[in-house]
Amino acid sequence: MSARKFTQIRFNHYDPEIMQDPYAVFAEVRSKCPLGHSDELGGFFFPTTYEGVKRAFSDFRTFTSTDGTGLPRQPLPLLPVDLDPPVHTAWRRTLNRFFTVEAAEADRERIQQVADTLIDAFIERGYADAVNELTRPFLAMSMLPVIGVPLEDRVELGNKLLWLVHNRVVDPEGGMKVYNEIGVYLTELAAKRRLAEQRDDLLQCLITQDFGGQKLDDGQVYQVLLLTLFGALDSTSSAMSGSLLHLARHPEDKARLVKGEVEWPVALDEFIRFTTPIQALRRMATKEVEIDGGTLYPGDQLLALNGAANRDPAKFPEPEKCILGRDATDHMSFGSGAHVCIGRHFARLMLGTCLKTMLARAYDFTVEDGFQPEYTPSEARAIKSLPIRFTPGNRVHAV
Ligand code: HEM
Repeated sequence: MSARKFTQIRFNHYDPEIMQDPYAVFAEVRSKCPLGHSDELGGFFFPTTYEGVKRAFSDFRTFTSTDGTGLPRQPLPLLPVDLDPPVHTAWRRTLNRFFTVEAAEADRERIQQVADTLIDAFIERGYADAVNELTRPFLAMSMLPVIGVPLEDRVELGNKLLWLVHNRVVDPEGGMKVYNEIGVYLTELAAKRRLAEQRDDLLQCLITQDFGGQKLDDGQVYQVLLLTLFGALDSTSSAMSGSLLHLARHPEDKARLVKGEVEWPVALDEFIRFTTPIQALRRMATKEVEIDGGTLYPGDQLLALNGAANRDPAKFPEPEKCILGRDATDHMSFGSGAHVCIGRHFARLMLGTCLKTMLARAYDFTVEDGFQPEYTPSEARAIKSLPIRFTPGNRVHAV
C-alpha cells in the first residue's frame, strides 16, 4: 500500500454550523492536500477540486453507487440512483421520457399558472415568506402531477419528506416511522392506480412498464417514487430562494435580466451553480485509485461534494460571487455522468418561471438590511425562510 495523503478536517454535512458556510472548509482543504478526510459519520474522504468531484460522479467503475448514495446510508436503496450502469442505463431509459426538455416544455403553461396562483395569494399584501409561500409549494404543485401523486396530499407529503431530509440522521427512530408512513401511502396509491383508469404519468409507467426486462415489485415502485419525490420537492426550491435572495440584494442584476442584457439560460446556470442545492452524495471506491493528490482503497467511502466543485476557483474564478454573465454550464449542481439529474430540465424551467414572474409582478422585492439567511443542514442545503417586501400589486386570477 502506498502512504496515504489527505487533509484531515472535521466536516459533517449534518452539522448546522458547518453548513451555514461549508465552502470555508472546502477552501481550507483545497489549499492543502485537496483530498479531505473526516472521521464523522463513520469516516469518509472527499475531493475538493472540480476535476476530483467530477471524476467521482462520472467514473462509476471506480466509484460505485451500489453501496448507496446517502451518507449515512438510507434505510432502503433509492432507485435508480443506487444502481450502476448497465443496469442503471436500462432503468434510466424507461424513466427519461417523463423528464426530457420536450416534456418540461409541454408543461410550461401549467407551471406559469402555478407561479401566478402562488404569487396571487400574497401580491396584494406587499410582503411574503418566499420559501414557505412560493418556492416550496411551487415544486409540489408543479411536479406532483408529473409523478402521479394527488395534489391534495402535497402539504402532508411535502412536510414528511422535508422532515426526513433534515432529521433522519439526528432522529433515526422517528425517521423509520416517517419512512413507513410514506411507504404505506405510496404503496396504497400504486395499488389504487392498478385498479383505476390508465394515465400518462410516472406512477403509471412504474406499475406497467418493463425495467431492464422486468416489472417492478411494490417495493421498487416505492423506491423510485421516494427518490423522485425527494428530488422534486426540495432541491429546486433551494435554487429559487437563493436566487431570489441574490436578486433582492443586487437590483443591478434584476435590471440586467429584465433589459435582456443577460440571457436567461446563462443566468439560470449561474444561479444553480451559486446556490448548489444538493451538496453531498456518497460513492464507494471499488479499487485503489489516486484522486486529488491522495489514494483511496477498495471499500473507502467517498463524499462527492457538489459545492466543492462549484466553488473551485481554478474552474470558476471568484467562485463565491454570483456573476450572471459567466458561463457556468459545466457546474456540478446536477452531478455528472450516468446519474446526472434527470429532473434538470424541469428544474431550469421552474426556476426561470419563478424568477421571471417575480420580476414581472413584484420587481422591487427586497429583504431587510442585514438579513442573515439560515441554511438547513444535510445533503440538501436550503434557506429556511426568506421574508421579502415589495410594492403591493394586483392578482392576475380572480379569487
Ligand atoms: C435545482 C434542482 C435540482 C438539483 C440541484 C438536483 C440535483 C441532483 C443531483 C446532484 C443528482 C445526481 C445524484 C447522484 O449522482 O448520485 C440528481 C439525480 C436525480 N434527480 Fe435531481 N436535482 C434537482 C431537481 C430535480 C427534480 C425537479 C427532479 C424531479 C423529478 C429530480 C429528480 C432526480 C432523480 C430521479 C435523480 C436520479 C437520477 C439517476 O439516478 O439516474 N431532481 N439530482
